[in-house]
Amino acid sequence: MESKKEKFYITTAIPYMNSKLHIGFFYEAILADVCARFNRLLGKDVFFLTGSDEHGQKIEKSAQANNMTPKQYTDIMVDDMKRLLELFEISNDSYIRTSDEKHKKVVQNILLKLKENGDLYKGHYEGWYCVPDEAFFTDSQITDGKCPECGREVEYIKEENYFFKLSKYQDIILEHIRKNPDFILPETRKNEVLGLIEQGLKDISFSRTTVKWGIPLGFDSKHVCYVWVDALTNYLSALGYSLEDDALYKKYWPANQHHIGKDILKFHTLIWPAMLLSLGLPLPRQVAIHGWVMLGQEKLSKSKGIMLDPDDLAERYGVEPLRYFLMREISFGLDGSFTHELFVRRFNSDLSNDIGNLLSRSMVMIEKYCNGIVPENKNINKVFKEKWEEVRNYCLECAREVRFNDYLSKISEFVNMANKYIEDNQPWNLAKSTDSRDRDKLNIMLYTLIESIRLSSLMLSPIMPLASRKILEQIGIELKDDEFNLSRMGDWGSYKGQTKLKEREILFPRIKEE
Ligand code: ME8
Repeated sequence: MESKKEKFYITTAIPYMNSKLHIGFFYEAILADVCARFNRLLGKDVFFLTGSDEHGQKIEKSAQANNMTPKQYTDIMVDDMKRLLELFEISNDSYIRTSDEKHKKVVQNILLKLKENGDLYKGHYEGWYCVPDEAFFTDSQITDGKCPECGREVEYIKEENYFFKLSKYQDIILEHIRKNPDFILPETRKNEVLGLIEQGLKDISFSRTTVKWGIPLGFDSKHVCYVWVDALTNYLSALGYSLEDDALYKKYWPANQHHIGKDILKFHTLIWPAMLLSLGLPLPRQVAIHGWVMLGQEKLSKSKGIMLDPDDLAERYGVEPLRYFLMREISFGLDGSFTHELFVRRFNSDLSNDIGNLLSRSMVMIEKYCNGIVPENKNINKVFKEKWEEVRNYCLECAREVRFNDYLSKISEFVNMANKYIEDNQPWNLAKSTDSRDRDKLNIMLYTLIESIRLSSLMLSPIMPLASRKILEQIGIELKDDEFNLSRMGDWGSYKGQTKLKEREILFPRIKEE
């Protein structure tokens, strides 16, 4: 009987569909994709969700500016986002739109439940609202009429709202964070959240009466749901929570990992858990909070035109090298910058020199000395076997903590060890020798190199799925995407000798530095 696979439900934030997406969101999508693929590599039953946030004032305004209805406008934006997800090899299992009827129904069900539980009450809001952030601020948080988060102009609003009793859940959330040290990653962000709780959580507006483009409350159609409540609900509505067909919900909730950027931590670590507590649902296991992708030292900004356009980058640098760069160069949780120079340096050193060279040198030697057939594994190379076990354990630990920069640096260490092994042992001299012991040594060496390549590619597959597959193909292993598996393929020595190499292909040709 097949054993039941462990489930892993992973999500990205759903970006606003107000304009073309910049590389910042794709950094997040790639990070989540790498985690999703890594968990598939571990043999888990992964459900990976992304989607689009389509309501609220910001989108209403963008649609107006383009002489379209919000729906016409978001339909175009959503098509473009889906195209880009495919381009960037994001392996999401589902895509949720907050304009989906199913989603609307779940939002209405949830709000009704919050009201029935006594956690929604009618009141009057008077204060500031930042449209780009879709967030409320009090007088004391505003200086010179600017938003404390993004620095843009805020609007003064005065209207009837339904309020949610966020304050009621403050102590339970605090307790949850303390008892579950992995709930918020990384540690610095956890401390930030603890600081927010220490300042005291106030009840918060959950509906608007002056906004039209939103989901009307089922019990009071004068109000539309506050866009953030609508958006957060996507993580449940995509699974069919509270609907007739809730099989996915039963299978996958609670989420194992929500990926978000540092600007929206309050919504995911305070408001979202409070909503779930009110609904009596289990909390997500982890909120993984990443930093910003910057252009050099500058923050990306759609309005200032500092974009790092994903299409331009993909065309110029290639999707997989870009995925590699973002995962290798940006330390999880911190900001990281993209520049042409940094990219070229990283590409040439890690991909072209280290991995690319190891593959081509090893293949050339096997073609030359063994007619293209990898020798059998007659004698285990203990040093490499032990090193590989260290690498694998370290990578597992890094992946658990979303530290793919360290993960990739460990793979580089392993690849470099193999390159150094060639230099130290000079196989070209062994090949000239007539002593049979030298021939044995050479055979062990060549097997060791190919085995190092195979295992490195396996570990690189979540980051560069296509390139890894192409590398494996060259050394005679053909795998479909869902056949990559660390426990089946991750032991040193499981590569079968006597395998014929395929045609060599240069995957990472060196970029000339301008
Ligand atoms: O916040 N670098 O949408 P959004 C890295 N609709 N990540 C970045 C980034 C950058 N330069 N800029 C933005 C929203 N992000 C809401 C989410 S979820 C229920 C609702 C990240 O389009 C940002 O932190 O402003 C967020 O996680 C995601 O991109 C979408 O941002």
